[in-house]
Amino acid sequence: MSEEKRIPRHVAVIMDGNGRWATQRGLDRSEGHLRGVESVRRTIRAAVAGGVRYLTLYAFSTENWGRPAEEVAALLELFCRCVQNEAEALADQGVRVRIIGDRERFPEEVRDSLERIEACTAAGERLTLQLALNYSSRSELARAARELCRQALSGEIAPDAIDEQTVARALYTAECPDPDLILRTGGEQRLSNFLLWQGAYAELCFTPVLWPDFTEEEFARALDQYAARDRRFGLVKTPTPKRS
Ligand code: IPE
Ligand code: IPE
Ligand code: MG
Repeated sequence: MSEEKRIPRHVAVIMDGNGRWATQRGLDRSEGHLRGVESVRRTIRAAVAGGVRYLTLYAFSTENWGRPAEEVAALLELFCRCVQNEAEALADQGVRVRIIGDRERFPEEVRDSLERIEACTAAGERLTLQLALNYSSRSELARAARELCRQALSGEIAPDAIDEQTVARALYTAECPDPDLILRTGGEQRLSNFLLWQGAYAELCFTPVLWPDFTEEEFARALDQYAARDRRFGLVKTPTPKRS
């Protein structure tokens, strides 16, 4: 049997704890988001180095619009600046960026930058980076249901032909395999409306480390935890026969 370490093909990260990191230091919450950008850079580097092929980062949920207006404005400004500034460096690392979530709610300037970064990095082959922006799993599923109903009503598909693959193909993540590992920083042990369909069999890993403090070593630790997990997918493992 191969002794090689099992590497998750797709890692999805709930980047949590920016606000607490800032508050603990007497800083404005937006300072935590700003510092979080360095953790994003470190995580992308670590994913490429670790042989991960797909990385999904949860950056803004549909529920996050309910935060104070100044925080939302600071976040939008930061997304815009980052996608503009980082595009070239990401393309150089072989990273292809895809945005998942409903981008229609963003101002035109943000939507344009998102389109530009997708176009500029389209040739990347080492890592596909899915950025979840204005994302929620339930709204993604409702959107897929609407789309499939439209197709059924127009006669494009038969309702009885709708199976798990049809649904998966109607999600934002259609081109991406399901996450093998979902990692959350910041200590909370919940999914907060993230990849509920896709994560059906994902391994979950929670760390108390706040996102701005997240390092390449922490990422490597999560990969080690994943490698030690026994993934059974509902099956029974055939025991290795004992030698006499
Ligand atoms: C995650 O950090 C970033 C976003 C949700 C945009 P938080 O801002 O949720 O930080 P905490 O959880 O309040 O510390
Ligand atoms: C989840 O974090 C969303 C992102 C990391 C973008 P939240 O801080 O919004 O989640 P809750 O409120 O703790 O569930
Ligand atoms: Mg939070």
